[in-house]
Amino acid sequence: MFLKSTILTTILVGGQLGGALVAQSSSPHAPPTLTTSFDTPAYRYSSFSYTQLSSNRYATPLSSPISFSTPYAPPFSEASTLLPSGVTYTTYSFNPTATAASASRTGEYDQQAYNNLWTSLSYTASPPFTTTVSPTPVPSDDLLFPPALTPYLANPDKKLPPDFIWGVAGSAWQIEGSLQLEGRGPSILDTIGSIQANSSASDANVATMNYYLYKQDIARLAALGVPYYSFSIAWSRIVPFGVAGSPVNSEGLAHYDDLINTCLEYGVTPIVTLVHADYPPSVVADMGNLTTHYLYFAKQVMTRFADRVPYWVTFNEPNISVGSVAKSYSILKDILLAHAAVYRWYKETLGGTAQITLKFANNLALPLDPTNSTHLASAVRYQNFILGIMGNPLLLGEQIPSEVLTTPNITLSALTDAELAAVNGTVDFISIDPYTAQFASPAPEGIEACSANASNALWPSCATLTNVQANGWLMGEASNDYAYIAPQYVRQQLGYLWNTFRPKGILVAEFGFNPFADANRSLNAQRYDLERTLYYHFFLREVLTAIHEDGINVVGALAWSVLDNDEFGSYANMYGLQTVNRTDGRFERHYKRSFFDYVDFFHHHIES
Ligand SMILES: *[C@@H]1O[C@H](CO)[C@@H](O)[C@H](O)[C@H]1NC(C)=O
Ligand SMILES: *[C@@H]1O[C@H](CO)[C@@H](O)[C@H](O)[C@H]1NC(C)=O
Ligand SMILES: *[C@@H]1O[C@H](CO)[C@@H](O)[C@H](O)[C@H]1NC(C)=O
Ligand SMILES: *[C@@H]1O[C@H](CO)[C@@H](O)[C@H](O)[C@H]1NC(C)=O
Ligand SMILES: *[C@@H]1O[C@H](CO)[C@@H](O)[C@H](O)[C@H]1NC(C)=O
Ligand SMILES: *[C@@H]1O[C@H](CO)[C@@H](O)[C@H](O)[C@H]1NC(C)=O
Ligand SMILES: *[C@@H]1O[C@H](CO)[C@@H](O)[C@H](O)[C@H]1NC(C)=O
Ligand SMILES: *[C@@H]1O[C@H](CO)[C@@H](O)[C@H](O)[C@H]1NC(C)=O
Ligand SMILES: *[C@@H]1O[C@H](CO)[C@@H](O)[C@H](O)[C@H]1NC(C)=O
Repeated sequence: MFLKSTILTTILVGGQLGGALVAQSSSPHAPPTLTTSFDTPAYRYSSFSYTQLSSNRYATPLSSPISFSTPYAPPFSEASTLLPSGVTYTTYSFNPTATAASASRTGEYDQQAYNNLWTSLSYTASPPFTTTVSPTPVPSDDLLFPPALTPYLANPDKKLPPDFIWGVAGSAWQIEGSLQLEGRGPSILDTIGSIQANSSASDANVATMNYYLYKQDIARLAALGVPYYSFSIAWSRIVPFGVAGSPVNSEGLAHYDDLINTCLEYGVTPIVTLVHADYPPSVVADMGNLTTHYLYFAKQVMTRFADRVPYWVTFNEPNISVGSVAKSYSILKDILLAHAAVYRWYKETLGGTAQITLKFANNLALPLDPTNSTHLASAVRYQNFILGIMGNPLLLGEQIPSEVLTTPNITLSALTDAELAAVNGTVDFISIDPYTAQFASPAPEGIEACSANASNALWPSCATLTNVQANGWLMGEASNDYAYIAPQYVRQQLGYLWNTFRPKGILVAEFGFNPFADANRSLNAQRYDLERTLYYHFFLREVLTAIHEDGINVVGALAWSVLDNDEFGSYANMYGLQTVNRTDGRFERHYKRSFFDYVDFFHHHIES
């Protein structure tokens, strides 16, 4: 059976499969050997009849509702005593035409002050919904499986543990829209797609309208049988002015409370991220006090919701803040300390029992020429910058790598012993977003000369990165952006993390693929997304091998993304497992074939 499917798959996808099979065979570098002999066929005539190949198979929904035998933290009635006193709970209503009438001002956080937060931000499109849309049952036709690929996707018999965390991920700013509604304050992302940025085409004020369509979106996950949904809470919906001591928005709290309850009602387990790149501008202007501001926000969220949330992610991909949020690498230290403060407050003060993690960007750097020591040094240096800065203290209780700290002009100082002790061990497992891999070699000037010159475009990691192998072949199928279908590197990615940082577990918190020029294809063609199916299946097969043959504890995998969304200014980078029609007035969603195949993978492989 396995041999047969191997032959079929080879015909289907040619070179791509080579890598996947190589990694699976017992000898990691030998191509698979086919040992069947050629039996002379007995050619013959008979009568012809058609064979019915399409059949109607429907998705299996989740059983609902979900209830946890023990809450993950005390209920709000008890936890509320942990909130600071004197907080104002209110909401705001954005009025773009209001003028500052000083006589009616009532304080630094009054309605006029709220309007003023938006003076430099406006949008071409208004959200077409302004209240929560009631969910309707997903029509059964939408739940029909695409034509079966089962013979091609047949897998070896390895299993995943029954508690494997699998599902889909999204983030608030990328899907919600409704930026100025229900008292939300601005985030630093809000300029993207604003009129001021001249990019009305990617209007984030509308996005996918998930802010009002969340009930339907959750119903759609449940109908397909997807058990975990990872989403983020917008800081500026909870604290519109961002900073500690400013008012808390009761409408924002009510929204996320209901989002979490809706998940549970439908049988979907929530995984909650506190910050997914959407910092309030006021906090960015006061990064030195990040811990204070972040704790203020996190306490509001956690005292209320922690009883119902089994997994928390404190920050998404902190590394992307370097350059975008702050020029200096010192922001990573600010984030590390803020993360640790919330972790310890949650575990020690609130008494929560959920697992807490922090989610890293990392497209693993591999040496372009593994036999060349400078290439190896480049790959390691890249990894030290992207992961070592936070991973060493968090997971090993070790200082930031010295090659980072000794880079001339790097504005990052060593952690003090007290800081190191505070940060050490404050993740329950590591989370990583490994979309693809990349090859590293030294900057043309060499690592030393490059690292001494902060004006060098490759400073400070000083790695030249490429997705083309030394022999000229691309590492894998290219996407619309930077992702590649290159499953041959998944085991190394996981092996690097596991053996370098020795975490208790690894969550693949985002992985995904955005096909080339997808936006220009018809809806039917977008939905029949075989490339994405191959990306997920090949990737997950390697995860199985990493678990069973390499002894790596991969605790879960969450696909990016729940729907096509605003990839920070582009709706053309379509990573979604569902389409969204942004022009039909209804924002209709359609499942893509990869979503069914993704669900099928887990149904075949979860030990029951
Ligand atoms: C927007 O476009 C106008 C006219 O082309 C230009 O003057 C302005 O600088 C642009 N603004 C931004 C933020 O790019
Ligand atoms: C921010 O930090 C400064 C200097 O350490 C301090 O004076 C100020 O009170 C802090 N603000 C908040 C909100 O904690
Ligand atoms: C952060 O990670 C992203 C994704 O891997 C990468 O493109 C970017 O260069 C990284 N930035 C820094 C400063 O490490
Ligand atoms: C190693 O890589 C460097 C930088 O690409 C190159 O200059 C050097 O010739 C290589 N050494 C060998 C032995 O291939
Ligand atoms: C980090 O935590 C581990 C486990 O608790 C402990 O053994 C180690 O001494 C700690 N290291 C530092 C630098 O605090
Ligand atoms: C690096 O730091 C030195 C000394 O602080 C300074 O003179 C130099 O201009 C800085 N910039 C660059 C690009 O290296
Ligand atoms: C530093 O890098 C910049 C940009 O590549 C270059 O113009 C400059 O000459 C370099 N400086 C030195 C001292 O190499
Ligand atoms: C997709 O279509 C748009 C116009 O609708 C065009 O500008 C763009 O170049 C096309 N992209 C590709 C990759 O074909
Ligand atoms: C979106 O909806 C509009 C209006 O119903 C329709 O004309 C268009 O074809 C749809 N687009 C896609 C990609 O389905």
